Amino acid sequence: MTDHTVSRRAALAGLGGTAVLGTALSAGVLTAPAATATTGTPAGSNAHRARQGKLEQRVSQLLKRMSLAEKLGQLQLVNTEDLAKQALAKTPCGGVFSVVGAAKLNALQKIAVEQTRLGIPLIFGLDVIHGYTTNFPIPLGQASSFDPSVAETDATVSAAEARRSGITWTYAPMMDVTHEPRWGRIAEGDGEDPYLASQFAVAKVHGYQGEDYSAGTKLAACAKHYVAYGGAEGGRDYNTVDVSIQELHNHYLPPFKAAVEAGIATVMAAFNTVAGVPAHANRYTLRDVLKDHYDFDGFVVSDYTGIQELIMHGVAGNGADAAAAGINAGVDMEMVSTNYVDTGKQLLAQGRIRQSEIDDAVRRILRVKFALGLFEHPYVDEAGEVTSVSATARAKARAAGSRCMVLLKNDNALLPLKRTANVAVIGPLATATFDLNGTWSGLGTGANTTPPVTVVEGITAAGASVTTAPGCDIDSADSSGFAAAVSLAQKADVVVLALGESAAMSGEASARSNIGLPGVQEQLLAAIVATKRPVAVVLFNGRPLTLQSTHDTATAILEAWAPGVEAGSAVADVLFGQVNPGGKLPVSFPRAVGQIPIYYNHQNTGRPADPNNKYTSKYLDLPSGPLYEFGFGLSYTTFTVSNIQLSSTKLSRQGGRITVRVDVRNTGDREGDEVVQLYIHDPVASIAQPVRRLRGFNRVTLTAGQTRTVTFTLGTDDVGFYDNQARFLVETGQIEVYAGTSSAADLKATFSVV
Ligand code: NOJ
Repeated sequence: MTDHTVSRRAALAGLGGTAVLGTALSAGVLTAPAATATTGTPAGSNAHRARQGKLEQRVSQLLKRMSLAEKLGQLQLVNTEDLAKQALAKTPCGGVFSVVGAAKLNALQKIAVEQTRLGIPLIFGLDVIHGYTTNFPIPLGQASSFDPSVAETDATVSAAEARRSGITWTYAPMMDVTHEPRWGRIAEGDGEDPYLASQFAVAKVHGYQGEDYSAGTKLAACAKHYVAYGGAEGGRDYNTVDVSIQELHNHYLPPFKAAVEAGIATVMAAFNTVAGVPAHANRYTLRDVLKDHYDFDGFVVSDYTGIQELIMHGVAGNGADAAAAGINAGVDMEMVSTNYVDTGKQLLAQGRIRQSEIDDAVRRILRVKFALGLFEHPYVDEAGEVTSVSATARAKARAAGSRCMVLLKNDNALLPLKRTANVAVIGPLATATFDLNGTWSGLGTGANTTPPVTVVEGITAAGASVTTAPGCDIDSADSSGFAAAVSLAQKADVVVLALGESAAMSGEASARSNIGLPGVQEQLLAAIVATKRPVAVVLFNGRPLTLQSTHDTATAILEAWAPGVEAGSAVADVLFGQVNPGGKLPVSFPRAVGQIPIYYNHQNTGRPADPNNKYTSKYLDLPSGPLYEFGFGLSYTTFTVSNIQLSSTKLSRQGGRITVRVDVRNTGDREGDEVVQLYIHDPVASIAQPVRRLRGFNRVTLTAGQTRTVTFTLGTDDVGFYDNQARFLVETGQIEVYAGTSSAADLKATFSVV
């Protein structure tokens, strides 16, 4: 680094580096976001402007006709049919969530549209996280595909199923970057990398909303949880987050920025504090960053009782204080608690909130309702309700399931197995059903949710001869089942050992302090390994686990996450080689809990870990680095990445571009997928930079012996970073580029930013 300049766009806008913390964004030093599009016509086109203009006109006209009570009503979101009916009889609420069933939703809508003064339709929300009737792999699994089209497919299928069933708004995608495997909600996001999470967030927005979310197969999406929720101290859900401005902007905010640029309709506030200020009362993150600088024109919904919780956070003395804080900060709609409707009138009279704030919140909510087409089509065709898993959706879920799996170990090429093998399928998850869906499953159909295909069913259907015994439960101290399991193992050619967590062990409020295999599963593994049969461990889990002893003793390990409705079939597809696994880890797997947080994009420190020097940053009792690094994953074939070439050795700070080319070669004897990954490192900058930052990835399929050239483009957006005053800086100096098959890639080139 020799020079220190704000980004080109900011510079062109005549804005400069005088910003201070908290007001930096008002000084306008962030790069300008792309225009937000809520219709299919390209933003900026005349047709788009006309449609937008018409929509805004309709919003304004309606707003003019609304009483204060009607306005406050729109800011309320309730979660039961009864509450909705009560509200509609008094002051109509804006929306209802977690109520499913086309007939029920139509009945509520009929009251809103036909029996209230203004007939404003309700928006119907639901946590359609990785499926409505058809469960796809959990989001962390989807991120392992390193193929955003997997997420887009899930979102497309889910949106169609949900919208046809009357739902119009999903509380997804979750895009909380995290370094915390103890945190149960790691299952719901894309892991530890902001770039990967941004790519997946955008894919999901496209899948849910499409070009125009008024379509009968699309939903309004919701970027959550805004913001830094993944930074929960100790991984305990809802916990405090203390984060620097640079970390906030470089690490936690990028997926939200990307989602806004992709046109996301809504954003949900997070339960945590951000540097002492609860996210629900955070004017800086909500108004300054999201609404002003990202130019977000949709609405912000609170999380469940998030406004009320401002009292427990200790920043509000009562409901009125909480409502004032939330409205002032920019939370537009209150979920479940009722402080806005209860105290809004009084707050306005006291001058603690402004009419313009209320109007802006209502305007944002109406904007999304108009864009959803609810005023034209408030009802859903009940005959079209989706209540089962279609063959097409099932096939897509199966393909997604196997595409998300990560091969962590494969000694002696144990996998793929022969279909003629005698397989003992052992383990507490061998015949598990709903646990293979993971967290947030089956919301669309409730009790009628289709159970996932079990591992035993999948392997049997693949043609192998199968014996099975659980050996133990997922989480108990009882080892009385070991003997039966060992006896089956002794008679088999190979053991498939299905281990892991229950669905309830990850997701919301499901932090674990010990992230090893629960119960006596490790002991079961030891007992099976002692039979000397080859053992392929298949893992079902919603977070990284500490797997040292599994790694040391199992012959092969396949990370399957929670694959969804076609779980067992997808596992069998990979175990028997119909699908060659090509997933990669979107998060580091620690060797031990004591290493957490451990992540690939850390800073170097003044004393980077050196095994030969005691006075460096490491543990006495553990090797440095994770057990499996970010981006790691094996295949049944092998690959090399070589011949890195840059189109230039110089990148202009004034918006230049550099092309990076590498050759990837399948050096094995069967077709397979490799994810070629591109990382950068800025070795000398005005603030310490991560040792690696992912800036590109490409999953390619190559036949045996095939070579392909993969091309990446790097620009100023890639090499720049936010400093501690939220300024986006593109500094001159050298940038190192690394390409390879994981974050440990060592094929290197350099260029200079000039
Ligand atoms: C609380 C969760 O934090 C959020 O993710 C979810 O969307 C809401 N509840 C609504 O169910």
